[in-house]
Amino acid sequence: MRALVLGKGGREHALCWSLAAGGAEVYALPGSDGIATVAEPVAGDPLQTSQVLDAVRRLEIGLVVPGPEEPLVRGIAEDLRAQGVAVFGPDRQGAQIEASKAYAKTLMRAAGIPTAAASLCQDFGAVEQTLAVHPDRTVVKADGLASGKGVIVADDAAGARRAARRLLGQYKSVLLEERLEGPEVSLIAICDGRDYRLLPFARDHKRLQSGDLGPNTGGMGAFAPVTGTPVSAEECAERTIAPLLRLLDDRGTPYRGALYAGLILTGRGPMVLEYNVRFGDPETQVLMPAITGSILPWLQGAADGRLPVEQPEVRRHALGVVLAARGYPEEPATGDEITGLEAAEAGGALVFHAGTRKAGDRWTVAGGRVVCVVGVGAGDEAARHAAYAGAAAITFPGAQWRDDIGGVPGR
Ligand code: AMP
Ligand code: GLY
Repeated sequence: MRALVLGKGGREHALCWSLAAGGAEVYALPGSDGIATVAEPVAGDPLQTSQVLDAVRRLEIGLVVPGPEEPLVRGIAEDLRAQGVAVFGPDRQGAQIEASKAYAKTLMRAAGIPTAAASLCQDFGAVEQTLAVHPDRTVVKADGLASGKGVIVADDAAGARRAARRLLGQYKSVLLEERLEGPEVSLIAICDGRDYRLLPFARDHKRLQSGDLGPNTGGMGAFAPVTGTPVSAEECAERTIAPLLRLLDDRGTPYRGALYAGLILTGRGPMVLEYNVRFGDPETQVLMPAITGSILPWLQGAADGRLPVEQPEVRRHALGVVLAARGYPEEPATGDEITGLEAAEAGGALVFHAGTRKAGDRWTVAGGRVVCVVGVGAGDEAARHAAYAGAAAITFPGAQWRDDIGGVPGR
């Protein structure tokens, strides 16, 4: 079986690694020097359906797995399926669940899914009116794809006003949302239309610095499974995944692909903060090593409309630490030499590449998040230890990382 993964980041590296472990011959478009150890790079732009289709035909690809949301939002899954290609990913309409937070809210209301109360505001007058009636709606969200930069959790109405004014300059509308409290978890379901299988709870760490300080980032680390939660992943899915799949199926737009629910476990039960229509980054870098065997049967099964009967099995813990470039997230500096990648792997860690380049034998920094170093073990402590031992082996000037991934100071 030949699989083609679209994308070039750490999430795509982990997907390629897992698919290869399942016996697939894996290609990545465009892939990267780091991914090349597990998947052959194919030149091309994942946003250009014709280029992807060319590669599919030329390489006789049996399964396409888009990594990021952009190709899905543009309709790559639907366009390829129309050509008879098996794709793990939702149609254009399904991808709107991530592209428009307002659309996601509408669906959640229609399906009776618990989520924060929210008002959609198209201008600043509406923002003022909303805050006058609901001063607790202090979470401001851009309505559109914002790569994680469109959410501001303000402490009070004044902060919410400032954030809304700024975002309304860039986006057509904003959502003002009730601020919720509780532990956050990411829940990813593998869906084939109406049916789904679950990956365990994962948690990512979005802030740059230890102690949840500093600016928001694309993710500085993650671990899975998350244990000791007040509700199970299955219970959460019954309330937040199943009703959405039923609604979409009833409307004649069945959802096929990964459905990621960002949940906050409040005193009132699990509530949805957001949906993504793809695997999480960096959650995937820990979920793939945490499951037993390869993700391949589930992705292929979902794409073909016959999911394996069993859930992916989870017997191990995995924890990933992101090493980011100096200057990240504002202005990451590239070009610095990276040493110790092989040593980290020789010590037993998995290294998933996001922003690296190789020239000859020399690795250099080529992006903001450089690598995610993942430790795997029978328990969370062993996983954490392995991850930090691996991270300590890797050096480049000004590397930034958090020492508290998993909730405990690392070193
Ligand atoms: P989102 O992109 O919607 O997941 O939001 C990014 C982050 O903002 C989340 O991971 C939460 O930490 C925080 N957040 C979003 N919505 C809320 C909310 N209603 N209440 C509290 N925190 C929130
Ligand atoms: N880790 C959050 C995301 O992938 O959107």
